Amino acid sequence: MTERALVTGGAGFIGSHVADAYLARGWSVTVLDDLSSGRRENVPGEADFVQCGVNDPEARELLRNGDFDVLNHHAAQLDVRVSVSDPLMDERVNIAGLLNLLEGARGGGVRRVIFASSGGVVYGEGDALPHPEEALKLPVSPYGVSKLASEYYLAMYARLHGLDVVSLRYANVYGPRQNPHGEAGVVAIFCNKILKKDSLTVFGDGSQTRDYVYVEDVARANVAAANHEVGAFASIDDLAFNVGTGIETSVNDLARTLLTVVGANLQIARAPARAGELARSAVNPAKLARQWDWTPQVDLAEGLQRTYDWIATYQ
Ligand SMILES: NC(=O)c1ccc[n+]([C@@H]2O[C@H](COP(=O)([O-])OP(=O)(O)OC[C@H]3O[C@@H](n4cnc5c(N)ncnc54)[C@H](O)[C@@H]3O)[C@@H](O)[C@H]2O)c1
Repeated sequence: MTERALVTGGAGFIGSHVADAYLARGWSVTVLDDLSSGRRENVPGEADFVQCGVNDPEARELLRNGDFDVLNHHAAQLDVRVSVSDPLMDERVNIAGLLNLLEGARGGGVRRVIFASSGGVVYGEGDALPHPEEALKLPVSPYGVSKLASEYYLAMYARLHGLDVVSLRYANVYGPRQNPHGEAGVVAIFCNKILKKDSLTVFGDGSQTRDYVYVEDVARANVAAANHEVGAFASIDDLAFNVGTGIETSVNDLARTLLTVVGANLQIARAPARAGELARSAVNPAKLARQWDWTPQVDLAEGLQRTYDWIATYQ
């Protein structure tokens, strides 16, 4: 049976890979995106494209009348600093936008909602790493609160309206099509610097760690999320799956590995630590392996090589 999926944010980095993965399985895909940070050329040619915002009545009507089986929600305001300077805008896109889509989904008979949450921002600092799904939640930015609140809204829609929902809590996703000109996405930024033969800037002493997961592995998790039942739940954690490697890599190690992989010999420059940056972050993907047989397939060196090659070719 052909599944019909609506992928919001499908002109962006992760959403476009999810659209590719669904199409590769013979599904019918519609991408909804306002192109605020995404690019039209990221939308796969075989997908239908609707340019509209997640808050627009048109988005709700599309879900109500589009006969979709799956809503895969990746569109978001995802800049932590913007969320701090304009929390109302963050709330409008990330919370009100989600509710607008869910109201359409419940009227339109959508079977499954898959939500792009973030393991990097919903968990508090302090617990042992890598964080399991049950770890303490204490977001420190409006963006983090909007991701956590979204998970609660989804659980409420599951209870109240029988929607089948799942939240994927991503670690730091990297790979082709990530914007190398923005503030986020250190891998894309470093690759871009290497191509320009600029030094790589590391903030603070570079010992801060992140869990880097390759975007095609993340897309496979989105396929698994569409294919498996979640079942009964007693908390938002029962509806959530960490998507990461569980491996902490420091920014210093990331910079060195990337320079080695691509054979570049550039300086690593130091800049003052940035306020509010987490010291360490990693998520434990054991539940995803146990329940849905998902493990990351692309290791850091291979993923860095592929990302660099893509940026060198297309940027
Ligand atoms: N990149 C990561 O490491 C990471 C980690 C955790 C969670 N996430 C989540 O994954 C999702 C995708 O992130 P990404 O890195 O691919 O970012 P991205 O900016 O490449 O993609 C987001 C897409 O959403 C679209 N969009 C933004 N606001 C919109 C609106 N109001 N209406 C319609 N479309 C809108 C943008 O045009 C863009 O195409 C986001 O929900 C983000 O919070 C990303």
